[in-house]
Amino acid sequence: MTKTILRALAGETLPTPPIWMMRQAGRYLPEYRATRAEAGDFLSLCYNSELAAEVTLQPIRRYGFDAAILFADILLLPQALGVDLWFVTGEGPRMTTVTTQGEFDALGKGAMIHDTLNPIYETVRILRRELPEETTLIGFAGAPWTVATYMIAGQGTKDQGPAHALKAENRALFEALIDRLTESTIDYLDEQVKAGAEVVKIFDSWAGSLNGEDFDKYATEPARIITQELKARHPGLPVIAFPRQGGDKYIGFHKATGADCVALDDSVSPEWAAAHVQVDGCVQGNLASSHMVTGGQALVDETRKVVDALSNGPHIFNLGHGITPDADPENVQLMIDTVRGK
Ligand code: CP3
Repeated sequence: MTKTILRALAGETLPTPPIWMMRQAGRYLPEYRATRAEAGDFLSLCYNSELAAEVTLQPIRRYGFDAAILFADILLLPQALGVDLWFVTGEGPRMTTVTTQGEFDALGKGAMIHDTLNPIYETVRILRRELPEETTLIGFAGAPWTVATYMIAGQGTKDQGPAHALKAENRALFEALIDRLTESTIDYLDEQVKAGAEVVKIFDSWAGSLNGEDFDKYATEPARIITQELKARHPGLPVIAFPRQGGDKYIGFHKATGADCVALDDSVSPEWAAAHVQVDGCVQGNLASSHMVTGGQALVDETRKVVDALSNGPHIFNLGHGITPDADPENVQLMIDTVRGK
């Protein structure tokens, strides 16, 4: 029998939505923290194929999610293009910036990214061997705009100011960076699929800070190119797009990009999404991740609300964004039991 996630992605309305969770392998789980300590640090964990596969499997063993997402990070691609990347504990990622023509010219391209990323493909191969047969394996990459915001600023930013500034001051360089990331993302995801990823997801976490025509050019268009090229190379490959905080721009995103599923953040109501987004195909989401911290009856009520509102079309249950380190693992079980009606 076809895996439930693949059925939902093919447009089927299921009696119970399949479920997985963004950042399901992460610091809220004691077994994750133990394996990360064994690896040394977060990046060493990403590049240790055996241990990266192990942390990917941990939430599958504990909860029986319907999908596993490859354990890696969206910032490994810029690292493979030649920027220095490191993580400051308690703060987040840092990298050497790309804001000048010289820095852009120093970036790599083409097949050289695989020299760095080969361990990630090995993680995918291990997972395809070890995952239960009913569990779907999702590969992923960051969307060009979101990855560019980190490369231009050298770190995470609240308003993506440095990336907007480069776009205003040197649009040719900004667009060259978006194009380079688009090409490399295709090559990166192509290798993940060859290694065994059954679905790919494109994370555009900062899409919401692009307005009007900028959203169309730098969020929608790269997602369309990546989706179209991957589907040309792998006919039938399902693609999930996540233009986070897209608001009204969620409307029509399936059609504009060719994505099979559009992932929703929790700033849109599931009723609104059913009427305006799910009419075009599968949606994923969108319980507020804060419920994984607070739990209780509100978690149950809001989970039911999301399930009910999206029950008349194809739906994959998920959070609106990643689960946070302060979440209680028992609340995750309560969410799953509520979705599955137990
Ligand atoms: O979802 C999963 O379980 C799969 C693995 C995954 C990670 N990052 C592991 C991770 C995925 C899909 C990502 C995507 C990612 N990474 C995004 C897009 C999704 C989103 O959250 O909006 C972004 C913007 C990044 C970049 C990134 N990586 C940041 C900003 C940080 C620091 C913030 C934080 O949460 O600590 C990371 C670190 C990171 N990536 C962790 C994990 C489990 C925590 C690192 C640790 O263990 O110390």
